[in-house]
Amino acid sequence: MPIVTSKEMLKKAYEGGYAVGAFNVNNMEIIQGITEAAAEVRAPLILQVSAGARKYAKHVYLMKLIEAAEADTGLPICVHLDHGENFEVCKSCIDGGFTSVMIDGSKHSFEENIRITAEVVKYAHDRGVVVEGELGQLAGIEDDVNVSAEEAHFTRPDQVEEFVARTGVDSLAIAIGTSHGAYKFKPGQKPMLRFDILEEISRRLPGFPIVLHGASSVIPEYVQTINENGGNMPDAIGIPEDMLRQAARMAVCKINIDSDLRLAMTAGVREALVKSPAEFDPRKYLAPGRDNIRALVKHKLVSVLGCDGKA
Ligand code: G3H
Ligand code: 13P
Ligand code: ZN
Repeated sequence: MPIVTSKEMLKKAYEGGYAVGAFNVNNMEIIQGITEAAAEVRAPLILQVSAGARKYAKHVYLMKLIEAAEADTGLPICVHLDHGENFEVCKSCIDGGFTSVMIDGSKHSFEENIRITAEVVKYAHDRGVVVEGELGQLAGIEDDVNVSAEEAHFTRPDQVEEFVARTGVDSLAIAIGTSHGAYKFKPGQKPMLRFDILEEISRRLPGFPIVLHGASSVIPEYVQTINENGGNMPDAIGIPEDMLRQAARMAVCKINIDSDLRLAMTAGVREALVKSPAEFDPRKYLAPGRDNIRALVKHKLVSVLGCDGKA
Protein backbone atom coordinates (compact mmCIF):
# COMPACT_ATOMS: atom_id res chain seq x y z
CA MET A 1 0.00 0.00 0.00
CA PRO A 2 1.66 3.27 -1.07
CA ILE A 3 1.42 6.68 0.58
CA VAL A 4 -2.07 7.81 -0.50
CA THR A 5 -4.16 10.99 -0.62
CA SER A 6 -7.05 11.40 1.79
CA LYS A 7 -9.66 11.71 -0.98
CA GLU A 8 -10.99 8.16 -0.80
CA MET A 9 -10.49 7.93 3.00
CA LEU A 10 -12.64 10.99 3.66
CA LYS A 11 -15.31 9.95 1.16
CA LYS A 12 -15.65 6.57 2.88
CA ALA A 13 -15.65 8.25 6.30
CA TYR A 14 -18.48 10.57 5.24
CA GLU A 15 -20.55 7.67 3.95
CA GLY A 16 -19.74 5.47 6.93
CA GLY A 17 -20.44 8.04 9.66
CA TYR A 18 -16.95 7.95 11.16
CA ALA A 19 -13.83 10.14 11.09
CA VAL A 20 -10.21 9.53 10.15
CA GLY A 21 -7.65 10.54 12.77
CA ALA A 22 -5.09 13.15 11.75
CA PHE A 23 -2.23 12.95 14.19
CA ASN A 24 0.72 15.37 14.36
CA VAL A 25 4.16 13.79 14.12
CA ASN A 26 7.55 15.15 15.16
CA ASN A 27 9.88 12.16 15.66
CA MET A 28 10.29 8.41 15.26
CA GLU A 29 8.69 7.36 18.55
CA ILE A 30 5.54 9.36 17.83
CA ILE A 31 5.27 7.92 14.30
CA GLN A 32 5.80 4.37 15.55
CA GLY A 33 3.30 4.70 18.41
CA ILE A 34 0.58 6.01 16.08
CA THR A 35 1.16 3.63 13.17
CA GLU A 36 1.50 0.54 15.36
CA ALA A 37 -1.86 1.33 16.96
CA ALA A 38 -3.51 1.91 13.58
CA ALA A 39 -2.03 -1.32 12.18
CA GLU A 40 -3.38 -3.27 15.15
CA VAL A 41 -6.96 -2.10 14.53
CA ARG A 42 -6.67 -1.70 10.72
CA ALA A 43 -7.49 2.01 10.64
CA PRO A 44 -6.71 4.44 7.79
CA LEU A 45 -4.37 7.21 8.90
CA ILE A 46 -3.45 10.80 8.22
CA LEU A 47 -0.05 11.79 9.63
CA GLN A 48 0.32 15.54 9.66
CA VAL A 49 3.41 17.70 9.83
CA SER A 50 3.43 21.34 10.96
CA ALA A 51 5.93 24.03 10.01
CA GLY A 52 7.38 23.59 13.50
CA ALA A 53 7.78 19.85 12.97
CA ARG A 54 9.59 20.41 9.66
CA LYS A 55 11.89 22.87 11.40
CA TYR A 56 12.56 20.50 14.31
CA ALA A 57 13.05 17.21 12.49
CA LYS A 58 13.61 18.28 8.85
CA HIS A 59 11.19 17.42 6.06
CA VAL A 60 13.25 14.57 4.66
CA TYR A 61 13.58 12.76 8.02
CA LEU A 62 9.82 12.86 8.64
CA MET A 63 9.05 11.76 5.08
CA LYS A 64 11.47 8.81 5.30
CA LEU A 65 10.19 7.80 8.74
CA ILE A 66 6.60 7.82 7.45
CA GLU A 67 7.65 5.77 4.41
CA ALA A 68 9.28 3.31 6.81
CA ALA A 69 6.08 3.14 8.87
CA GLU A 70 4.09 2.47 5.72
CA ALA A 71 6.48 -0.32 4.72
CA ASP A 72 6.37 -1.76 8.23
CA THR A 73 2.58 -1.76 8.62
CA GLY A 74 1.18 -1.91 5.08
CA LEU A 75 -1.37 0.71 6.09
CA PRO A 76 -2.77 3.37 3.78
CA ILE A 77 -1.19 6.58 5.11
CA CYS A 78 -1.80 10.12 3.90
CA VAL A 79 1.03 12.62 4.60
CA HIS A 80 -0.44 16.05 5.22
CA LEU A 81 0.94 19.55 5.82
CA ASP A 82 -0.79 21.03 8.87
CA HIS A 83 -1.51 24.80 8.82
CA GLY A 84 0.45 25.75 5.71
CA GLU A 85 0.90 29.49 6.01
CA ASN A 86 1.52 30.41 2.38
CA PHE A 87 1.93 29.09 -1.16
CA GLU A 88 5.70 28.51 -0.78
CA VAL A 89 5.45 26.13 2.18
CA CYS A 90 2.61 24.21 0.47
CA LYS A 91 4.64 23.96 -2.75
CA SER A 92 7.69 22.75 -0.86
CA CYS A 93 5.65 19.97 0.79
CA ILE A 94 3.96 18.97 -2.48
CA ASP A 95 7.34 18.86 -4.24
CA GLY A 96 8.70 16.89 -1.26
CA GLY A 97 6.18 14.04 -1.53
CA PHE A 98 3.26 15.02 0.71
CA THR A 99 -0.10 13.83 -0.62
CA SER A 100 -2.20 16.50 1.09
CA VAL A 101 -1.67 20.08 2.24
CA MET A 102 -3.61 22.54 4.32
CA ILE A 103 -3.46 26.17 3.28
CA ASP A 104 -4.56 28.11 6.34
CA GLY A 105 -5.79 31.45 5.05
CA SER A 106 -8.18 31.89 7.98
CA LYS A 107 -6.38 34.96 9.33
CA HIS A 108 -6.86 36.78 6.01
CA SER A 109 -9.93 38.50 4.59
CA PHE A 110 -12.46 36.26 2.82
CA GLU A 111 -11.25 37.41 -0.62
CA GLU A 112 -7.55 36.98 0.23
CA ASN A 113 -8.25 33.56 1.77
CA ILE A 114 -9.95 32.54 -1.50
CA ARG A 115 -7.07 33.91 -3.58
CA ILE A 116 -4.25 32.08 -1.79
CA THR A 117 -6.27 28.90 -1.35
CA ALA A 118 -7.18 28.74 -5.06
CA GLU A 119 -3.51 29.26 -5.97
CA VAL A 120 -2.48 26.28 -3.81
CA VAL A 121 -5.34 24.14 -5.15
CA LYS A 122 -4.23 24.75 -8.75
CA TYR A 123 -0.64 23.72 -8.01
CA ALA A 124 -1.68 20.74 -5.87
CA HIS A 125 -4.37 19.31 -8.14
CA ASP A 126 -2.07 19.45 -11.17
CA ARG A 127 0.18 17.07 -9.19
CA GLY A 128 -2.49 14.75 -7.72
CA VAL A 129 -2.34 16.30 -4.24
CA VAL A 130 -5.44 17.24 -2.24
CA VAL A 131 -6.02 20.49 -0.32
CA GLU A 132 -7.72 21.43 2.95
CA GLY A 133 -8.81 25.06 3.42
CA GLU A 134 -10.04 26.85 6.53
CA LEU A 135 -12.86 29.32 7.11
CA GLY A 136 -13.40 30.84 10.55
CA GLN A 137 -10.82 31.16 13.30
CA LEU A 138 -10.07 28.93 16.24
CA ALA A 139 -8.88 30.32 19.54
CA GLY A 140 -5.39 29.34 20.67
CA ILE A 141 -1.85 29.39 19.48
CA GLU A 142 -0.15 27.67 16.56
CA ASP A 143 3.09 28.39 14.80
CA ASP A 144 2.62 31.64 12.92
CA VAL A 145 -1.13 31.70 13.56
CA ASN A 146 -2.06 33.38 16.84
CA VAL A 147 -5.69 34.16 17.53
CA SER A 148 -6.79 35.31 20.96
CA ALA A 149 -9.94 33.82 22.46
CA GLU A 150 -11.66 37.20 22.17
CA GLU A 151 -10.97 37.42 18.45
CA ALA A 152 -11.95 33.84 17.71
CA HIS A 153 -15.00 33.58 15.58
CA PHE A 154 -17.10 30.77 14.26
CA THR A 155 -17.36 29.83 10.61
CA ARG A 156 -20.18 31.63 8.82
CA PRO A 157 -22.33 29.03 7.05
CA ASP A 158 -23.38 31.61 4.43
CA GLN A 159 -19.77 31.75 3.17
CA VAL A 160 -18.98 28.06 2.75
CA GLU A 161 -20.56 27.35 -0.65
CA GLU A 162 -18.83 30.30 -2.30
CA PHE A 163 -15.50 29.44 -0.65
CA VAL A 164 -15.58 25.82 -1.79
CA ALA A 165 -16.81 26.66 -5.30
CA ARG A 166 -14.25 29.40 -5.93
CA THR A 167 -11.23 27.60 -4.42
CA GLY A 168 -11.86 23.98 -5.39
CA VAL A 169 -10.68 22.68 -1.99
CA ASP A 170 -11.17 19.00 -1.19
CA SER A 171 -12.06 19.50 2.49
CA LEU A 172 -12.86 22.41 4.78
CA ALA A 173 -11.75 23.10 8.36
CA ILE A 174 -14.35 25.00 10.35
CA ALA A 175 -14.53 26.78 13.70
CA ILE A 176 -17.37 25.61 15.94
CA GLY A 177 -15.81 26.06 19.37
CA THR A 178 -12.72 23.87 19.42
CA SER A 179 -9.28 25.42 19.94
CA HIS A 180 -5.65 24.40 19.87
CA GLY A 181 -3.59 23.39 22.88
CA ALA A 182 -4.35 21.95 26.32
CA TYR A 183 -6.31 24.89 27.74
CA LYS A 184 -9.44 25.02 25.63
CA PHE A 185 -11.89 26.13 28.27
CA LYS A 186 -11.49 28.06 31.50
CA PRO A 187 -11.75 26.08 34.78
CA GLY A 188 -15.45 25.73 35.60
CA GLN A 189 -16.48 26.50 32.02
CA LYS A 190 -18.68 23.91 30.34
CA PRO A 191 -17.26 22.67 27.00
CA MET A 192 -19.64 23.54 24.18
CA LEU A 193 -19.53 22.99 20.42
CA ARG A 194 -21.84 24.70 17.92
CA PHE A 195 -23.39 21.62 16.33
CA ASP A 196 -26.05 23.88 14.83
CA ILE A 197 -23.36 25.56 12.71
CA LEU A 198 -21.95 22.18 11.65
CA GLU A 199 -25.45 21.03 10.72
CA GLU A 200 -26.10 24.14 8.62
CA ILE A 201 -22.71 23.86 6.87
CA SER A 202 -23.31 20.22 5.96
CA ARG A 203 -26.78 21.10 4.68
CA ARG A 204 -25.18 23.64 2.35
CA LEU A 205 -22.34 21.27 1.32
CA PRO A 206 -23.94 17.83 1.00
CA GLY A 207 -21.38 15.02 0.92
CA PHE A 208 -18.46 17.39 1.50
CA PRO A 209 -15.84 16.42 4.13
CA ILE A 210 -15.47 18.78 7.10
CA VAL A 211 -12.36 18.94 9.31
CA LEU A 212 -12.17 19.61 13.03
CA HIS A 213 -8.96 21.13 14.40
CA GLY A 214 -8.18 21.55 18.08
CA ALA A 215 -9.88 18.27 18.93
CA SER A 216 -7.76 16.91 21.76
CA SER A 217 -9.69 15.82 24.81
CA VAL A 218 -6.82 16.62 27.19
CA ILE A 219 -7.12 13.30 28.98
CA PRO A 220 -6.94 14.03 32.75
CA GLU A 221 -4.95 10.87 33.60
CA TYR A 222 -1.98 12.11 31.60
CA VAL A 223 -2.07 15.57 33.19
CA GLN A 224 -2.24 13.88 36.60
CA THR A 225 0.73 11.60 35.81
CA ILE A 226 2.74 14.59 34.61
CA ASN A 227 1.97 16.51 37.80
CA GLU A 228 2.68 13.50 40.03
CA ASN A 229 6.09 13.22 38.44
CA GLY A 230 7.48 16.68 38.83
CA GLY A 231 5.25 18.56 36.37
CA ASN A 232 3.27 21.64 37.17
CA MET A 233 0.40 21.88 34.67
CA PRO A 234 -2.61 23.99 35.61
CA ASP A 235 -6.11 22.54 35.22
CA ALA A 236 -6.57 21.71 31.56
CA ILE A 237 -9.89 21.06 29.82
CA GLY A 238 -10.37 19.62 26.33
CA ILE A 239 -13.17 18.53 24.02
CA PRO A 240 -15.31 15.76 25.56
CA GLU A 241 -15.00 12.54 23.59
CA ASP A 242 -18.76 12.10 23.20
CA MET A 243 -18.86 15.43 21.33
CA LEU A 244 -16.13 14.23 18.96
CA ARG A 245 -18.08 11.02 18.39
CA GLN A 246 -21.15 13.05 17.55
CA ALA A 247 -19.16 15.23 15.11
CA ALA A 248 -17.72 12.10 13.48
CA ARG A 249 -21.22 10.74 12.90
CA MET A 250 -22.09 14.03 11.19
CA ALA A 251 -20.07 15.63 8.33
CA VAL A 252 -16.75 15.76 10.21
CA CYS A 253 -14.45 13.27 8.43
CA LYS A 254 -11.01 14.34 9.71
CA ILE A 255 -10.26 15.03 13.37
CA ASN A 256 -6.93 16.64 14.33
CA ILE A 257 -5.13 15.52 17.46
CA ASP A 258 -1.77 16.76 18.72
CA SER A 259 -1.98 17.95 22.34
CA ASP A 260 -3.19 14.54 23.59
CA LEU A 261 -0.12 12.94 21.96
CA ARG A 262 2.16 15.46 23.67
CA LEU A 263 0.57 14.76 27.04
CA ALA A 264 0.82 10.98 26.57
CA MET A 265 4.48 11.16 25.56
CA THR A 266 5.40 13.58 28.36
CA ALA A 267 3.58 11.49 30.97
CA GLY A 268 5.48 8.36 29.89
CA VAL A 269 8.87 10.06 29.88
CA ARG A 270 8.37 11.83 33.22
CA GLU A 271 7.11 8.68 34.90
CA ALA A 272 10.07 6.65 33.64
CA LEU A 273 12.64 9.22 34.72
CA VAL A 274 11.13 9.68 38.16
CA LYS A 275 10.97 5.92 38.65
CA SER A 276 14.62 5.50 37.60
CA PRO A 277 16.42 8.77 38.37
CA ALA A 278 19.81 7.28 37.48
CA GLU A 279 18.67 6.29 33.99
CA PHE A 280 20.47 7.95 31.10
CA ASP A 281 19.68 5.63 28.20
CA PRO A 282 17.13 7.56 26.07
CA ARG A 283 15.58 4.30 24.88
CA LYS A 284 14.55 3.50 28.45
CA TYR A 285 12.46 6.64 28.84
CA LEU A 286 11.34 7.22 25.23
CA ALA A 287 9.87 3.71 24.94
CA PRO A 288 7.29 4.35 27.73
CA GLY A 289 6.32 7.56 25.91
CA ARG A 290 5.83 5.56 22.72
CA ASP A 291 3.81 2.92 24.63
CA ASN A 292 1.50 5.65 25.94
CA ILE A 293 1.02 7.03 22.42
CA ARG A 294 0.16 3.56 21.09
CA ALA A 295 -2.47 3.04 23.79
CA LEU A 296 -3.91 6.54 23.39
CA VAL A 297 -4.21 6.29 19.59
CA LYS A 298 -5.84 2.85 19.76
CA HIS A 299 -8.42 4.28 22.15
CA LYS A 300 -9.08 7.26 19.85
CA LEU A 301 -9.41 5.12 16.71
CA VAL A 302 -11.76 2.57 18.26
CA SER A 303 -13.78 4.48 20.85
CA VAL A 304 -13.83 8.05 19.55
CA LEU A 305 -13.40 8.15 15.77
CA GLY A 306 -14.93 4.77 14.93
CA CYS A 307 -12.47 4.14 12.08
CA ASP A 308 -11.13 0.76 13.23
CA GLY A 309 -11.42 -1.95 10.58
CA LYS A 310 -11.82 0.65 7.78
CA ALA A 311 -8.30 0.46 6.25
O1 G3H B 1 -2.25 23.08 15.37
C1 G3H B 1 -1.08 23.02 15.72
C2 G3H B 1 -0.42 21.73 16.02
O2 G3H B 1 -0.66 21.34 17.34
C3 G3H B 1 1.03 21.80 15.69
O3 G3H B 1 1.73 22.50 16.66
O4 G3H B 1 2.99 24.15 15.31
O5 G3H B 1 3.74 23.54 17.64
O6 G3H B 1 3.98 21.90 15.76
P1 G3H B 1 3.21 23.07 16.32
P1 13P C 1 -5.06 19.94 19.55
O1 13P C 1 -4.12 20.99 20.10
O2 13P C 1 -6.41 20.03 20.19
O3 13P C 1 -4.48 18.58 19.64
O4 13P C 1 -5.29 20.27 18.00
C1 13P C 1 -4.32 19.88 17.04
C2 13P C 1 -4.59 20.46 15.70
O5 13P C 1 -5.63 21.00 15.39
C3 13P C 1 -3.51 20.36 14.70
O6 13P C 1 -3.82 21.04 13.53
ZN1 ZN D 1 -4.96 22.82 13.78
